[in-house]
Amino acid sequence: MPRQKIIVTGGCGYIGSHTVVELIQAGFRVVIIDNLSNSDGSALEGIKAITGEDVPFYMIDSGDKNAVSEVFSQEGRIDGIIHFAAYKAVNESVEFPLKYYSNNVKGLINLLECAIDHDCNRFLFSSSCSVYGDADKLPVSELSPLGEIRSPYARTKLMCEDILRDLSSSDTQMKSVVLRYFNPAGAHPSNEIGESPTINASNLVPVITETAIGKRPEFTVFGNDYDTRDGTCIRDYIHVSDIANAHVLAIKKMLSHDYAQPFDLYNLGSARGNTVLEVISAFEQVNGVSPNYIIGPRRAGDVIAVYADNSKSKNQLGWNLKYTLDDIVRTAWQWELKRSRKK
Ligand code: WQD
Repeated sequence: MPRQKIIVTGGCGYIGSHTVVELIQAGFRVVIIDNLSNSDGSALEGIKAITGEDVPFYMIDSGDKNAVSEVFSQEGRIDGIIHFAAYKAVNESVEFPLKYYSNNVKGLINLLECAIDHDCNRFLFSSSCSVYGDADKLPVSELSPLGEIRSPYARTKLMCEDILRDLSSSDTQMKSVVLRYFNPAGAHPSNEIGESPTINASNLVPVITETAIGKRPEFTVFGNDYDTRDGTCIRDYIHVSDIANAHVLAIKKMLSHDYAQPFDLYNLGSARGNTVLEVISAFEQVNGVSPNYIIGPRRAGDVIAVYADNSKSKNQLGWNLKYTLDDIVRTAWQWELKRSRKK
């Protein structure tokens, strides 16, 4: 049987590039669409270093119907699409909501119309735990009520989920799966790919590594007066390669000959809840480096605690996590050291 071919939008990005590696190692052929708005394309070298494959890459916007149609024409049969390409900076979405609605929502609609035009009817969508908002009950499962949406970014993710749900219930052949990520972090164990944002990092783990390497003099812990075991917020940090592996399991399930589920969604979290100070402590213990930080005021929009019930992903996708919090902070640090040597 010929190797099935998957379009990965945002495949030069952080989670996208790690997923491309896992897809190739699972026997898929991959085509990357990426406009390099938040990545520099260097991941292509890393993907080749790990897999030996030169992945076809189209530097286009996944929401540009004509350009994406051209990719379908050139690449022939496409068995599925994994859609990562989206803006994801929460604060920026508050400042420029229309930019987020246009890119994330209109872009999805354009891509879906193109997929349907080319009889590609398996769609895997990258969503976020931020749709749960400030959950009343923890851990959150896929059946948990969705809390107050706190940003236009999170609202675009929820809108896209609803579009996919409605489309899959209509008379098209489209079947879609939504994966809700908790806090992706860390880097590929080969140290050939990792998080390489072109804009300044705002997530905790890259902020820690950038401080530890000296790119920042210190960072701020946003509040230590929360009602948690050490006063700092709790999150579910999940290794990016565990996230990537779940995408392979999901697309394999969707492409199985007897797959009939029009729409489904899964939490991708470790089910571990760690405080900010625990992450810092793990970083120090594992790497022997103590990043400078101060305790500052709370950050607007932060939820106190969120972590996953991941039993559905484990039971229905056969997902088994390989990496721990120590692996996350170790691989993140190794990647930061390598990135800084390259500069
Ligand atoms: C984690 C914790 C901060 C930076 C975001 C997105 C979410 C999802 C995951 C995409 C919080 C604290 C952070 C710093 C700090 N992304 N922190 N100092 O906000 O949980 O979620 O990434 O799907 O949509 O919102 O991640 O890493 O920014 O923060 O104290 O300099 O670290 O307050 O408690 P967050 P984060």
